[in-house]
Amino acid sequence: MPTPVQRYYGRWATLYDRVADLPGLRSWRAATAALLDPAAGDTVVEMGCGTGANVPYLRERVGPDGRVVGVDVTREMLDRAGEHSERTGPGIDYVQGDATRPPLRTADAILATFVVGMFADPARVVDRWCDLVGPGGRVALLNFQRSDRALAAPFNVAFEGFVRLSAPGGRFTRSSQAAAFERRVDAAREALVGRTEQRQFETFAGGYLGVLAGTVTA
Ligand SMILES: C[S@@+](CC[C@H](N)C(=O)[O-])C[C@H]1O[C@@H](n2cnc3c(N)ncnc32)[C@H](O)[C@@H]1O
Repeated sequence: MPTPVQRYYGRWATLYDRVADLPGLRSWRAATAALLDPAAGDTVVEMGCGTGANVPYLRERVGPDGRVVGVDVTREMLDRAGEHSERTGPGIDYVQGDATRPPLRTADAILATFVVGMFADPARVVDRWCDLVGPGGRVALLNFQRSDRALAAPFNVAFEGFVRLSAPGGRFTRSSQAAAFERRVDAAREALVGRTEQRQFETFAGGYLGVLAGTVTA
């Protein structure tokens, strides 16, 4: 029996695939992979990889001796990933599974883009990811956020609309759903801060995207 998340992303996988690779998004995906900063030869796991739009940038970083593993719970999203030559090939694997209970034993680095705001207990999930990469491993989270820049107020309505679209199955008003999403992203970031050092935080897109990356401490 598919979950609401699987039904939602299963239905919209083809459209999502087109939007996920728009030129503006590409530069932010490349910058996020740079902040994750895996070494050549590393194994990077992308949790909630969707249609694999980050995979080319991760593969470029880990090189021919490295490995990129995309984990997603929605079969149709992984099927779209498999249709792109630059997102498939040697050293790239996709696994259908639940990122909150990672179906892998080891990794050097973990990336999650536009995903942690969907989890019921994001702090616990980030904690598990930190355990998985272990001391010295890297974790990066990219998320939409409300912008506090001047003139941003009208666009924060668009932010609320995005949250509604990306969080299937919720029975909330637009504003309360956005607030719940923000609490979950904050909880994920706080958990990552608590487990890491050498952290970097960067924003893109006028402050509407924020990426937090760090190295897991012993
Ligand atoms: C907004 S999309 C982001 C996809 C991709 N990370 C990107 O940047 O384009 C969210 C993705 O997370 C996946 N997802 C949601 N909950 C998940 C879970 N518990 N485990 C694995 N994947 C999950 C959905 O199937 C969907 O593909």
